[in-house]
Amino acid sequence: MGLTKNRRKFLKTASSSALFATLGSSFFTSCYEKDEDISPVNNDDKNEDVWTNGYNIDSTNIKIDLNHNNFKILKGTGGWKRFDEGALLLVNVGSDIIRAFSSICPHAQCRTSWAYANNNFTCTCHDSIFKNDGSFVSGPAAGQDLKSLTAKVEDNILTVTED
Ligand code: FES
Repeated sequence: MGLTKNRRKFLKTASSSALFATLGSSFFTSCYEKDEDISPVNNDDKNEDVWTNGYNIDSTNIKIDLNHNNFKILKGTGGWKRFDEGALLLVNVGSDIIRAFSSICPHAQCRTSWAYANNNFTCTCHDSIFKNDGSFVSGPAAGQDLKSLTAKVEDNILTVTED
């Protein structure tokens, strides 16, 4: 890898970090080093690998291809997914509505111990329960809701952004 490419990656990472700081964003991962302006319909050689796993994360949003095998489950009512690369919990609540939440539990910040049943998320670290609108139900999270994010679907692409 040449110096120019390393420098470009450094600048991309640096600018992403600056944007996160500006927006106060902390949950989008910064380990992503992919090219910009990608879309599953613009699948040229340069960008093909980006959508191999069905998603793209950049400094402002996360895009998810709902037709990809990794995310197809979100197309059906009640389908849900813990998406660790984006630190998200995603759930289809019916009527083609997908909701997105930070997967960081407000109690003690567990991220990967989630279950979903009867329209509720349970953080199995200490059994806090939240409705599928993110609101607290019971447990040691004690009145703290899941952090809700904006989720929009267009042409089978889910876009998640912070408010
Ligand atoms: S970290 Fe989720 S209930 Fe404790």
